[in-house]
Amino acid sequence: MTEKTGPLVAVLMGSKSDWDTMRHASETLAKFGVEHECRVLSAHRTPAQTAEYVSSAEGRGMEVIIAAAGGAAHLAGVAAAHTVLPVLGVPIESPSLKGLDSLLSMVQMPGGIPVGTLAIGKPGAVNAALLAVAILALSRPELRRRLHEFRQEQAQQVLSATLP
Ligand code: RP5
Repeated sequence: MTEKTGPLVAVLMGSKSDWDTMRHASETLAKFGVEHECRVLSAHRTPAQTAEYVSSAEGRGMEVIIAAAGGAAHLAGVAAAHTVLPVLGVPIESPSLKGLDSLLSMVQMPGGIPVGTLAIGKPGAVNAALLAVAILALSRPELRRRLHEFRQEQAQQVLSATLP
């Protein structure tokens, strides 16, 4: 059987300033060997290019979209409007309102166009990647095996923690 080549996950962010958070999503996907593509695309500053990129993602063989934005964080919702692929949203911790603005903008989608919104900042970036891996693992036993391994290693680290 020939495996599909090319990115399976898109990691989108509204600004280059989001990279410091979103590199954790990219690093997590890389740990699982998941091919992905990171792009800066803004719902507000590049609306046409955002629509074009997301509309064509399914046809290019992508399976999950991760979208991060801060402030009036519309990127994930706009992305979800242009695709039926699962869209996972990461609210960026904004300087003024500490990401509460991003979280509420992203999580309060009206019924009909879902965005799976994760936690604010780095934990959300890591978990968006882990959730993307879990979605891909539904049809990829090798990835499923690696997820089980990851959970076991994580549990071992907790159990072997030593306190000062
Ligand atoms: C959002 O505005 C971006 O996702 C970013 O989190 C925020 C600020 O962007 P910059 O002004 O740093 O480019 O669109």
